[in-house]
Amino acid sequence: MDLGLKGAKVLVTAASQGLGAATAERFSLEGAQVVINSRNLEKLQQTAAHIVEKSGHPVYTFAGDVSEVSAAQRLVKNAAETLNGLDILIVNAGGPPAGGFDDFDATTWDQAIQLTFLSAVYLIQASLPYLRQSSRAAILTVTSIAAKQPVANLTLSNAIRPAVIGLTKTLSLELGKDQIRVNSILPGITDTERVTHLMQSRADRNHSTPEEERAKSAGEIPLGRIGTPEEFANTAVFICSPAGGFINGVALAVDGGATRATM
Ligand SMILES: NC(=O)c1ccc[n+]([C@@H]2O[C@H](COP(=O)([O-])OP(=O)(O)OC[C@H]3O[C@@H](n4cnc5c(N)ncnc54)[C@H](OP(=O)(O)O)[C@@H]3O)[C@@H](O)[C@H]2O)c1
Repeated sequence: MDLGLKGAKVLVTAASQGLGAATAERFSLEGAQVVINSRNLEKLQQTAAHIVEKSGHPVYTFAGDVSEVSAAQRLVKNAAETLNGLDILIVNAGGPPAGGFDDFDATTWDQAIQLTFLSAVYLIQASLPYLRQSSRAAILTVTSIAAKQPVANLTLSNAIRPAVIGLTKTLSLELGKDQIRVNSILPGITDTERVTHLMQSRADRNHSTPEEERAKSAGEIPLGRIGTPEEFANTAVFICSPAGGFINGVALAVDGGATRATM
């Protein structure tokens, strides 16, 4: 199937590794022009070089912290000027720290809201003038199954992710008239660097091994395994592509069936 992404102008934030990098790579393999972002420029450039080697299409890099309003605005401006417009925005950021309610003070809550919620507001606000000029505009927020079903020891994520879904759904209603589609993917446990660290810290806490912790996590998923970043990326790229052009306002769990909710 031709997804209709050749030459599309795409910004993927938080993309030096993990879900963001896999998504940027898939877009590039589909012939899109891609800008990737993260805070560490050196790592970002290595990721860009790796993608270019595979796809043969240019990938541009801009370092910046998307939780800071000025950095997010500068990033979008730089990306749109480099690409001469913007068709697709993938809103991604690192996850907030793990822990229970007693573990976090007011400052940590503020930082988590900046990182997980306000980064989406900043990036989308800055992108709208460009997306309104596009004939294939789409926004995708990367959230978590924590938005549907609280995950143990992820209090910040459980509390803040639903706000991003609320924003996503509201924007899908408000921006439909401008032909801008807005959707969210709720990843379940997916094999990225973040999950490698998570398994190590669970193993340290439970006096087990990362392999045992992985097996435990996989056992809670109906498909019996953890997802791959490529599976997430294939879904993200399809939803944002003209081939998925009637998908709007969706909050889609890509989790192997792990979410127990009916809807
Ligand atoms: N993997 C999963 O199982 C899973 C499940 C549910 C939800 N999620 C969520 O999906 C998102 C991506 O997860 P992942 O597994 O791909 O994480 P990851 O492997 O830790 O990668 C995070 C990426 O975000 C960048 N980043 C972090 N903070 C940033 C910031 N403030 N500004 C710009 N870039 C930033 C990092 O690069 P720098 O350090 O260079 O900035 C890195 O490229 C996270 O929000 C995570 O919580 C993941």
